[in-house]
Amino acid sequence: MKKGIIVLGSSNSNGETYKVCSYVSELTQYPIIDLKLKNISEFDYGFNNRGDDFHPLIQEIVNNYGMIIFATPVYWYTMSGIMKTFFDRISDCLKIEKDTGRKLRGMDMAVISCGSDKNLKQGFHMPFIESAKYLGMNYLSDVHCWIDDGSIPESVQRKLDGFVKTII
Ligand SMILES: Cc1cc2nc3c(=O)[nH]c(=O)nc-3n(C[C@H](O)[C@H](O)[C@H](O)COP(=O)(O)O)c2cc1C
Repeated sequence: MKKGIIVLGSSNSNGETYKVCSYVSELTQYPIIDLKLKNISEFDYGFNNRGDDFHPLIQEIVNNYGMIIFATPVYWYTMSGIMKTFFDRISDCLKIEKDTGRKLRGMDMAVISCGSDKNLKQGFHMPFIESAKYLGMNYLSDVHCWIDDGSIPESVQRKLDGFVKTII
């Protein structure tokens, strides 16, 4: 079994996506990394931001884990800005961090989304699936969640139980 890590990309460190991540973390024992607590700036063609938190974080991930679960709230029908910035910065791994980029190959990827709507719009997962393909990662599965009155509804818990079975 590959050791995994949950990468949380919410604007609320203790919000609804975090609640879902905590449930999955309890089942899998995978740690949660909160991107909100990291200083990761947007992609820079000049790589003048190479000293921020992105490179140490991605190195830690590729050197210690075999799978990444990206957990994002749905903001305006797509992944959060924080999560998109993280994906943009993966471009660093194709240019100045090539060894790290190569280590992404063969890793597994899965996606947790959390929205107020019970259904995602068509195409929500496309950027994840295509990025996995481009990077040589294996896209395993995804699950969409929502929170009711501050807690994870029973039906969503069952979805999450099923999701966990597809990744371990
Ligand atoms: C800026 C913003 C945009 C949102 N857009 C959507 C959306 O397009 N579709 C949806 O289902 N929910 C949308 N929501 C609701 C959130 O996805 C939902 O409340 C989610 O559970 C919040 O997770 P969080 O607490 O981790 O931020 C939006 C919320 C915010 C703050």
